[in-house]
Amino acid sequence: MNMGYSGQRAVVTGCASGIGAALCVQLVSLGAQVHGFDVRQPADCDPAMRFSQLDLRDPLAIARAAGTIAPSVDLLFNCAGLSSVAPPMDVVRVNFIGMRSFAEAVISRMQRGGRIATVASIAGANWNNRLDTVRALVDTEDYAAADAWAAAHPDSVGAGYALSKEACIVWTMTRAARDAARGLRFNCLCPGSVATPMLHELQKQGRGHVVDAIQQPSGRPSTPAEQAGLLLFLNSDVASYVNGHALVADGGYTAALTIGETPRAAFTK
Ligand code: NAI
Repeated sequence: MNMGYSGQRAVVTGCASGIGAALCVQLVSLGAQVHGFDVRQPADCDPAMRFSQLDLRDPLAIARAAGTIAPSVDLLFNCAGLSSVAPPMDVVRVNFIGMRSFAEAVISRMQRGGRIATVASIAGANWNNRLDTVRALVDTEDYAAADAWAAAHPDSVGAGYALSKEACIVWTMTRAARDAARGLRFNCLCPGSVATPMLHELQKQGRGHVVDAIQQPSGRPSTPAEQAGLLLFLNSDVASYVNGHALVADGGYTAALTIGETPRAAFTK
């Protein structure tokens, strides 16, 4: 099956580690031209790839990084992220506010056929139960307005992670609905547990019980490559009629939870 990646110009955030790094390897092997961004230099960047530094916590750094992007881009993969062990405002800035701001700069370089895939999480699954709150953040005009909203709503922000991922999902759905007529597609991926440094960070910080809970019923985390393959699917020609979708990839955790076979993990909000 031809996924249509040969010669495609792809931008990937979070390229230095985990899901983003695994995705870059797969994109390069499929013949895409990859421009990776991350707050830190990748340890072993494929020579076929371009790399630029990007700190999603800083609007000026986002503008500088956006200036390095080619005038025309086909694909965007938003993979950069912070876990809930980081300060809540940093989590919301990296996972949603900065992600959206950088994405807008990339989208402005896309023609019809542009595709955007964002890594959310099953931690954002509660988005529909507090849509008004999430929409209030998603509907802010720009980085400064979103940052001000988050600073003014510490109770809604909580530990930052769940809100940031709910916002990724609602932003994806909103843009999918509004931009389908322009020929753009927006989807997101909601992984369960993934064996990356982020998972080890959570375990070290005493959140091993959450990790154990979301690894039921499969009994294992996914590999970064398994999640990267699904991002490739979402942004491929194979998924040309998939738009506004939040694809859950959690080894059956959400299914087991929905039918009452497994208890809900105690995510920190
Ligand atoms: P990771 O820690 O291996 O990779 C995250 C990347 O984001 C790193 O390369 C890091 O340098 C980069 N990053 C962090 N702060 C940044 C900033 N200020 N500006 C630019 N880049 C920055 O983690 P992983 O697991 O690959 O995470 C990728 C995405 O997957 C994240 O959005 C995460 O929330 C999500 N996810 C991860 C899960 C897991 O169990 N590992 C589960 C569900 C979602």
